[in-house]
Amino acid sequence: MKKKYIMSPGPVEVPPSVLSVGGLPMIHHRTPEFRKALAEVLEGLKYVFQTKNDILIFPAAGTGGMESAVINMVSPGDKVLVAACGQFGERWAKIAETFGVSVVKVFAEWGDEVDCAKVEAELKKDPGIKAVFTTLSETSTGIENNIKKLGEITGKTKAVFIVDAVSGMGAVEFRTDEWNVDVAVVGAQKGLMIPPGIAMVTLSEKAKKAMTESKIPKYYFSYEQALKALSKDKLPDTPYTSSVSLILQLRESIRLIKEEGLENVWKRHARIASAVRMGVKALGLKPFAGGKPSNAVTSVWAPEGIDGDAVNKKIRDDYGITMAGGQGKMKGKMFRIGHLGYVDMFDAVIALAAVEMALTELGVKITLGAGVKAVEEELLKK
Ligand SMILES: Cc1ncc(COP(=O)(O)O)c(C=O)c1O
Repeated sequence: MKKKYIMSPGPVEVPPSVLSVGGLPMIHHRTPEFRKALAEVLEGLKYVFQTKNDILIFPAAGTGGMESAVINMVSPGDKVLVAACGQFGERWAKIAETFGVSVVKVFAEWGDEVDCAKVEAELKKDPGIKAVFTTLSETSTGIENNIKKLGEITGKTKAVFIVDAVSGMGAVEFRTDEWNVDVAVVGAQKGLMIPPGIAMVTLSEKAKKAMTESKIPKYYFSYEQALKALSKDKLPDTPYTSSVSLILQLRESIRLIKEEGLENVWKRHARIASAVRMGVKALGLKPFAGGKPSNAVTSVWAPEGIDGDAVNKKIRDDYGITMAGGQGKMKGKMFRIGHLGYVDMFDAVIALAAVEMALTELGVKITLGAGVKAVEEELLKK
């Protein structure tokens, strides 16, 4: 028998109480029983997302949520700004271009944060920019962007501010309303700790106005249709079949988040992330993140002469722990340790022990136990 762990930046491990809800008998989505559960979930999400705005839920991957934001917020021929610092940020530009939207690219080097001053300068240069797209936690590089600052900058313009919070929500501090975020896109399988399959979006009044002006054709992902269903009578509804089991699981995971308290959830992630980073450094490894490291994932340069994917493969195939390799142009050059969602302090110990053992087996000279020791010392700090 091999005990398996997921230490990837999503999908993440699912808490036992959430898993058990997934095994309950099916209920129909057009029943008061389900619609009451949906109402509870939408209310709970307002707390987790720190918003009073409407929230729409679509059965989709996180990328479906991203596409929905593009096709509902802008029109073909519009100019938008994409502030990216990695694979997922750059995805916004690819989606926008797919729909004939023209993109001003403020792309940082991978490993750096988005440059807020450059975003501000581009917005000043072209007041016609209709939307600003960026990423909260850039999973491909392990960077957290300054959403608060970008929200201040974009809030002074006519552009809607759209944030991919797919991997950051529920892991790192994020305040939708206070930070002027018009559309936050969130995924299921990360900080919200449920299996993959739903995408969530928040919509401010500014975003709803943009929605009425958008001319990109849409059917399934129409926010207008989804909003109509949400408010057509006392209990919320969805235009098409809801992901019933996932919504019920989400109700349980929101209960867990509320029980712990959102700020404590953020603090737990910060503590574990900090321990992992100390462990990595104690092994003489180089963290990839040059800007503010994300508390959801730690990206690490593979040691000289070692394929990052080989480290990842050994840890997965030999030890049963799924971490992540480098993405896109970083493939083979790094490995990434996810620490978000259902994580606690001893996950950091396991992660570092696995890294130490894998590197040793791959012939890298490190001191066994040095990473684990640094993790323990960090965790013991009050
Ligand atoms: C920051 C970020 N955005 C978007 C996505 C895409 O989500 P999905 O793979 O569910 O489409 C991911 C997935 O890892 C992500 O981490």
